[in-house]
Amino acid sequence: MAKPVLISGVQPTGRLHIGNYLGALKNFVELQDSGKYQCYFFIADLHSLTEEFDQKEKQRQILELTADFLAVGLDPKKSAIFQQSRISAHSELASILYPITPMGELERMTQYKDKIANQKENINAGLFNYPVLMAADILMYGTQFVPVGDDQDQHLELARTLARKFNSRFGKTFVEPKGLHTPTPRVMSLKNPTKKMSKSQPEGCLFLDDSPEDISAKLKSAVTDSGSEIKYDSDKKPAIANLLEMYAGITGDEMSKLEKKFKNSSYSDFKNSLAELVASRFADFRKKKKSLMADPVSLTVILKSGSERANKVAEKKIKEVKEKIGLI
Ligand code: ADP
Ligand code: TRP
Repeated sequence: MAKPVLISGVQPTGRLHIGNYLGALKNFVELQDSGKYQCYFFIADLHSLTEEFDQKEKQRQILELTADFLAVGLDPKKSAIFQQSRISAHSELASILYPITPMGELERMTQYKDKIANQKENINAGLFNYPVLMAADILMYGTQFVPVGDDQDQHLELARTLARKFNSRFGKTFVEPKGLHTPTPRVMSLKNPTKKMSKSQPEGCLFLDDSPEDISAKLKSAVTDSGSEIKYDSDKKPAIANLLEMYAGITGDEMSKLEKKFKNSSYSDFKNSLAELVASRFADFRKKKKSLMADPVSLTVILKSGSERANKVAEKKIKEVKEKIGLI
């Protein structure tokens, strides 16, 4: 029996933060290393064009995310690591899915609504159609599992809807994918525990390649709650709960164990421990990323060869899809 297919993409829009790691990339590596899946991980560069960008900077961000993938533990020998725009079948499949996508489904997407609220100066059709391209990315490979943070749930649901719709009209072609979440599917901003940590708001992010000094300074100034006890209570103490989740996400400890460990600690002692933990957890990552970034040619070679691998599968699928709908 062939192993189930698993895919996930990340936009090249900046450095990875601890939310990306605990919600997605840590899981990518564990799932890859389990040996139970055929894994595809890709740079969602077409998706990233929906936000303002500079061409040179975009090129750099694509290579930087490739280095991030490798430094965190993704391995081109085990997974196809590829660049979305190198595979034209993704855009073709999106074009085929548009006409079966109801406008209403796209209009109610929360990510779209948030973006048009915050990105007033560049509201473009790419933002609106973003979930259809994402459905194409997923459905292309017969994907069963999609490891993502919970901000992507609505998008995944659309991919399932489109798979069902297409299959019932044109015959079984696509698999309905399921999301996979970690125990920390939504890490909150250091500056505001009611908001998701996001690359688009760098001031609330703890980046994986932040220096130990930066990590310590950022955690020191992270907002806390009233009171002084280190207790996990996401309603009454959302800021401390978020920091405890980061700690537990890294060590795998139960909350009760952490509450005991920090029973007599002040907020500031706890923040210092978390800073030390994060700094040491990513020491190796920082070193590897630096050396990978020094060799952009090798990064490009990896992306090219992963894209060739994925392209073979995608070309076959797009041919099947075109045949099913009577185009060829
Ligand atoms: P961002 O929103 O920071 O730009 P991306 O959209 O590139 O991040 O997300 C890459 C992956 O990381 C996705 O699977 C996404 O669901 C996950 N992710 C992003 N932010 C968080 C967060 N704060 N907590 C948990 N997972 C997250
Ligand atoms: N929309 C995802 C994000 O913002 C990135 C993405 C694009 C993706 N295509 C995908 C994730 C396919 C999983 C599968 O994080």
